Amino acid sequence: MSSIPSSAERSPAAAPEPVLSVRHLRVEFPTRHGTLVALDDVSFAIAPGEVLGVVGESGAGKSMTGNAVIQLLEPPGRIADGEIHLQGRRIDNLAEDDFVPLRGRHIGMIFQDPLTSLNPLFSIGDQLIETLRTHLPLSEKQARERALALLSEVGIPAPETRLDSYPHQFSGGMRQRVVIALALAAEPELIIADEPTTALDVSVQAQILALLKRLCAERGTAVMLVTHDMGVIAETADRVAVMYAGRLIEIGPVNAVIRAPQHPYTEGLMASIPAVEHDLERLYQIEGAMPRLAAIPPGCPFHPRCPHAQARCERERPDLMPAGQGQAACWLHDPDDPLPRRAGSEKARPRRENAHER
Ligand SMILES: Nc1ncnc2c1ncn2[C@@H]1O[C@H](COP(=O)(O)OP(=O)(O)O)[C@@H](O)[C@H]1O
Ligand code: SF4
Ligand SMILES: [Mg+2]
Repeated sequence: MSSIPSSAERSPAAAPEPVLSVRHLRVEFPTRHGTLVALDDVSFAIAPGEVLGVVGESGAGKSMTGNAVIQLLEPPGRIADGEIHLQGRRIDNLAEDDFVPLRGRHIGMIFQDPLTSLNPLFSIGDQLIETLRTHLPLSEKQARERALALLSEVGIPAPETRLDSYPHQFSGGMRQRVVIALALAAEPELIIADEPTTALDVSVQAQILALLKRLCAERGTAVMLVTHDMGVIAETADRVAVMYAGRLIEIGPVNAVIRAPQHPYTEGLMASIPAVEHDLERLYQIEGAMPRLAAIPPGCPFHPRCPHAQARCERERPDLMPAGQGQAACWLHDPDDPLPRRAGSEKARPRRENAHER
């Protein structure tokens, strides 16, 4: 008799346990002039095999979020509240000695500049073999074979001839491929990639992103992809989290957020994707700049720049609430008392020359 339950007997499909769960994260920087709140009540989760894009203007808190997860906050920055869980295990309260084994083995890291991840004094073969043997019980020969396989997987041609090459002998794109191989070497459950292609030519960017996405999907690796570039998110991510002034202000499936952004800030951000600009009539240029940490306005932090802002926005801070297929922190979506959109406030076309900050 079959042991597979019929569809009627099957319980509703349980969502897989997230690889990463960040709950109500608050990061503070104590200064002589008072406490700066760099991250305020940031919550999100990433499922196995999922790419979560984290996007926002420079200074929004994207890197800070990734650095908090891997306990690399620059002092005196500190987690003041909230919890971070990796595969159900709380990790934000681990001492540094207990955290060290997580980096590389359970959380892989890819940064903008591949040279920060590679040691110029050692061949890439030595670096890969050492990383593999630090984290996995492999002999020198096994590690060498694994290193060759990894280099071939990340698209390094003739890897056996490149194993003895040094980082400076590779192009920028090839170096970032090596960094991806290093990040994936110990088969971590989570990869944090912070602006991984920002330093590369546009044509190389697309190849590297496609590679990262494919390799992580094959392995079921969760990816937190930090970028200021909405185009990168559109190409690579499954869901997108939009940050503004240290807050998460919209989160949802990428396609839905691109087609129908729910937060006025996200609507403005969409101006940075040329293909989308033509589809959306409502796009407008966001005037002004994101506030400094020391001067985040009360109420909705976006209100000084928002074309829909009204008195309530200046007083009351909106938390994330259901909006479209995801959530947005905006009173336009208040289920009890939605703020009316201001007519005539969305006519201006975006100024494209400001669309990409680089
Ligand atoms: N060491 C630090 N001390 C004080 N403030 C910092 C420090 N590092 C970053 N910040 C501030 O934290 C905010 C978020 O920075 P960051 O996460 O690097 O932004 P981004 O979204 O561009 O990655 C910015 O306002 C930045 O000025
Ligand atoms: S809460 Fe008000 S100010 Fe903030 S984004 Fe929504 S409409 Fe604009
Ligand atoms: Mg950054």
